[in-house]
Amino acid sequence: MTRPRLVVLASGNGSNLQALIDAVDEGHINGQIVAVVSDRPESRALTRATDAGILAAPLPIAEGERRDDYDRRLADLLSDLAPHLVVLAGWMRILTDTVVESFRVINLHPALPGELPGTRAIERAWAEHLAGGRDRSGVMVHEVPDVAVDAGPVLAVEEVAMVPGDDLDSFATRVHAVEHRLLTRVVAEICDDLLSHDHQEVIDA
Ligand code: GRF
Repeated sequence: MTRPRLVVLASGNGSNLQALIDAVDEGHINGQIVAVVSDRPESRALTRATDAGILAAPLPIAEGERRDDYDRRLADLLSDLAPHLVVLAGWMRILTDTVVESFRVINLHPALPGELPGTRAIERAWAEHLAGGRDRSGVMVHEVPDVAVDAGPVLAVEEVAMVPGDDLDSFATRVHAVEHRLLTRVVAEICDDLLSHDHQEVIDA
């Protein structure tokens, strides 16, 4: 097998995408990012892809488009790109079966398993902390086997504690640092695993 083909789906700033790009460039991930897809044509993630010489594929939602119809277009695009792995890195849309049943998809969630599904998880964790109900949150990377939001078999998890002197910014900065590290590690492990299975098949043949 050549290096596993990765497609990253990102809606926003793309700092996690950048962590992946850097890790590939530095040889920490034995894979190739073949495209970055974004539902938001103006997203920084697409600029980061272009700057890195990676295909940037804007896929905006058409006016009034149904989720199913959008996902069929997304699945068609992904089929053309033939990824071994689809990485959701700040992808702000729920995917339907059309996509998750056709491709291996993993997702990054800035909270612990079973906690704070949906958007703005860092801000909500911080609000709960201020209200006195929380002293830690975390990051998880998980498989996306179905349409459930921010749920699925966990591949990596790390707690991030709120510490004295923290404010939302300092807490969020530490969460993002953990995100970058965890996502990079999981993608590297999956690529190594894909390559070693492929190697095994060659030996078995
Ligand atoms: C990350 O916190 C991710 O976990 C969440 O959205 C944020 C995206 O950050 N789903 P970036 O676009 O990778 O900088």
